[in-house]
Amino acid sequence: MSLIEISGVDFLYENDNSDRPALQNIDLQIEAGDFAVIIGSNGSGKSTLAKLLNVLLTPSKGEIFVAGLNTNNPDNTWKIRQRVGMVFQNPDNQLVASMVEDDVAFGPENLGIPTQEIRKRVDKALEMVGMAGFQKFAPHKLSGGQKQRVAIAGVIAMEPDCIVLDEPTAMLDPQGRKEVMETVQYLNKEKGITVVHITHFMEEAVNADQVIVMNQGQILHKGSPKSIFRLVEQLKDVNLDIPVAVEVAEYLRQENIDIPDILSIDELVDALC
Ligand SMILES: Nc1ncnc2c1ncn2[C@@H]1O[C@H](COP(=O)(O)OP(=O)(O)OP(=O)(O)O)[C@@H](O)[C@H]1O
Ligand SMILES: [Mg+2]
Repeated sequence: MSLIEISGVDFLYENDNSDRPALQNIDLQIEAGDFAVIIGSNGSGKSTLAKLLNVLLTPSKGEIFVAGLNTNNPDNTWKIRQRVGMVFQNPDNQLVASMVEDDVAFGPENLGIPTQEIRKRVDKALEMVGMAGFQKFAPHKLSGGQKQRVAIAGVIAMEPDCIVLDEPTAMLDPQGRKEVMETVQYLNKEKGITVVHITHFMEEAVNADQVIVMNQGQILHKGSPKSIFRLVEQLKDVNLDIPVAVEVAEYLRQENIDIPDILSIDELVDALC
């Protein structure tokens, strides 16, 4: 069984007066240890899907299993939330304490973990996100990228199997974006944490194990980055960008220049040289 198994899921907001559910017919598996990236235009249902994964919402129809636990069973809610941590767009809304270490300790405290153990976890989590030594800092004095890494540390301190990040880089400058993506990639590759990353930046999808393209509440495509970014016209039809290198390669192919499937500028340079 996959770490996350979604089958036949619909979701309809109670106060939604639009004519279609926010999510419709969602079938999706995410394997333990994978880096999955969800892309899709505004309102396509990405955040709704994220909230279903850690039981902030439950399906109107269908089922979701996280590590074999059905999210529809209220007895599983806290077990699942411990396994699936969430990081949101705005770090300022996630950091509530006046000191970094208290913010990181907040999650484990709620799990009822003993104080000595919490102290260890806080230090370890801050180290894992490259923020060792910032324990006594005031969160509001940190950069956007640093704040977001502290928010990630707060999730890591709960020792989850999976982190779901809903546009964690959207409010950051390029430097902050790079810091956060390197941190998330490190946690995935070196620490084996499963990642579900939602983004509008296509470059953040090129190293994924699986890319999921959402459109109007449905999954339009899912597959490897290469198989997804080959669908240049279909992605443009649903208002998605494609990585610059992919676009250039596609243009060259139209000019009858033989270019293999590439995703990054480096690969493009190699292919051309
Ligand atoms: N709390 C809510 N109540 C009613 N409808 C909602 C609510 N939240 C989202 N929706 C609707 O559900 C649909 C999916 O929204 P969702 O926020 O999941 O999309 P998204 O892909 O995350 O968009 P964005 O890229 O703007 O973050 C939209 O039509 C939206 O208007
Ligand atoms: Mg969203």
